[in-house]
Amino acid sequence: MAPRKIIIDTDPGQDDAVAILLALASPEDMDVLGITAVAGNVPLPLTEKNARIVCELASKPDTKVFSGCDAPLARKLVTAEHVHGKTGLDGPTLPDPTMPLQDQHAVDFIIDTLRTEAPGTVTLCPLGPLTNIATALERAPDIADRIQEIVLMGGAYFEVGNITPAAEFNIYVDPEAAKIVFACGAPITVMPLDVTHKALVTPPRNDAFRAIGTPVGEAVAEMTDFFERFDKEKYGSDGAPLHDPCVTAYLINPDLFTGRHINVEIETASDLTLGMTVADWWGVTDRPANATFIGDIDADGFFALLTERLARL
Ligand code: BDR
Ligand code: CA
Repeated sequence: MAPRKIIIDTDPGQDDAVAILLALASPEDMDVLGITAVAGNVPLPLTEKNARIVCELASKPDTKVFSGCDAPLARKLVTAEHVHGKTGLDGPTLPDPTMPLQDQHAVDFIIDTLRTEAPGTVTLCPLGPLTNIATALERAPDIADRIQEIVLMGGAYFEVGNITPAAEFNIYVDPEAAKIVFACGAPITVMPLDVTHKALVTPPRNDAFRAIGTPVGEAVAEMTDFFERFDKEKYGSDGAPLHDPCVTAYLINPDLFTGRHINVEIETASDLTLGMTVADWWGVTDRPANATFIGDIDADGFFALLTERLARL
């Protein structure tokens, strides 16, 4: 099968970085048409810089990186330095990028690509707040029908929230954008906290990254060393959840994941539950299904795949 054409929309973030590295290490599965940066974990000047740092770490400086929206559609930006550190990529010491940022705005790139490529051949992989994707859909509604699939990290049902008691970070930061995306009609696959909290970098799994013995293996081990301190303290878990790589791993081997095709709506009105993904997991409404909501992962298979692919870089 020909590699899937993808656009990675991202706010790196250590786990975003690992997701990007997995994609760049897997050309037989994914053709990365571009990486579009959005404000999220840290402000936009850092996310677009971090995206380029990661491409250079992967020795793929020809990857096209675009800068996108610097603030949510209708709200002030909320960031997550408490998880990812001041730079967003705290942990390893990595050089400033020398590869250029593309001149075109990320939103224009998303629109142009979907209009230029054959319908149904481009997959969007959002790993951060959905501002760039929603802006593209608002500005060019014709692109919705041309999207092959949107595979995104965001939301939660059984795990409820991580940034508030009710909401997951990516959806909470721009709930209006999430509402637009979940209503757009394109096929959507969601990697919520319900699954990403099962993708934990335990000490042996991090040792395996380090044992790759390359700058990439070492950098990934140092990134997870850094951000696991937050989740260990908060959840008492055995390691950090690798949220965003679930998206790119799904594109390589969907059989690692199981979920349900259900209705998912986004709360945008309540102060208390703003950004909640109201997922009809049990089918108690007659609202039409609009997303495949993933619930489980073969975590050993996922980490074996990740380690094997990262070793290629
Ligand atoms: C999501 O929020 C960010 O902190 C991570 O990069 C991930 O995309 C998890 O809630
Ligand atoms: Ca992210």
